Amino acid sequence: MASSVIEHYGNDGIVSRIISALEEADFDINNLQPDVFAGADEFHIGGRKGSEFVASALNMQSGHHVLDLGSGIGGPARYIANTLDVTVEGIDLTPEFVEAAIEITEMVGMTERVSFQVGSATSIPFDDDTFDATTMLHVGMNISDKELLFSEMARVTKPNGSIVVYDVMRTGEGGLVFPMPWSSTPEYSFVDTKDAYVKAAENAGLELLTVDDHTEMAVSFFNNPPSEPPPVNLGHLMGTGMPEMFANAQNAINSGTIGPILLRFAN
Ligand SMILES: C[S@@+](CC[C@H](N)C(=O)[O-])C[C@H]1O[C@@H](n2cnc3c(N)ncnc32)[C@H](O)[C@@H]1O
Repeated sequence: MASSVIEHYGNDGIVSRIISALEEADFDINNLQPDVFAGADEFHIGGRKGSEFVASALNMQSGHHVLDLGSGIGGPARYIANTLDVTVEGIDLTPEFVEAAIEITEMVGMTERVSFQVGSATSIPFDDDTFDATTMLHVGMNISDKELLFSEMARVTKPNGSIVVYDVMRTGEGGLVFPMPWSSTPEYSFVDTKDAYVKAAENAGLELLTVDDHTEMAVSFFNNPPSEPPPVNLGHLMGTGMPEMFANAQNAINSGTIGPILLRFAN
């Protein structure tokens, strides 16, 4: 299963495609700010808006230590570190994404506050009670065993720490058409309902604090593209298959089959 997920996301040349696009858009590639990557490094519905939802759901103090599960190429981790003045460690199954996350973090001079390593959300390579908070954006759709996922999150998060999940969840009946952005085939797509997430989290001892359904934002995100496109986009991250994945996700959002939901828990 893990190898199919890695094959779906992993591809060569991510950073060079992004840098070429930034050069074409006349950015000084020796002086890049984290925000210029947002079109490509925020791989979830709403882009930067999604990371804003997560950051504002976290109740952090300066210097706190956050784990980002399935950190992709690091957009959410860098945004959360900058906005909340915390340190963030990301783990992700896909080696090419972790390499790109490290490279971009070096380029923007944030390596002292943000780091990444290859690892699985269902076998987190950290000790118990390591983090003040754990976040996860658009990753659970690749994970069948939500009970194990939440028990691992609870284990590495300190008592009373926050756990914030912003995932694509099933909100209606109807089949999904593949490829989707998280999966080329149904074989490793595990889109679950909010209730299934909450049950798994409560079985891991977490307390549900809030539920925010961001479907309205998602409909706008998919149907009203920005009048000025960003210099980089998810095509630079995922390659030429992205438009078809985007269109399939757009149809599923428009028909009410799936939606992005944010769940906030206390450990
Ligand atoms: C849609 S991307 C989201 C990336 C990032 N969270 C973001 O919002 O930009 C899903 C990510 O989850 C990672 N992933 C999937 N299953 C995972 C698992 N079991 N453990 C860790 N990472 C996983 C993938 O490699 C991919 O980077």
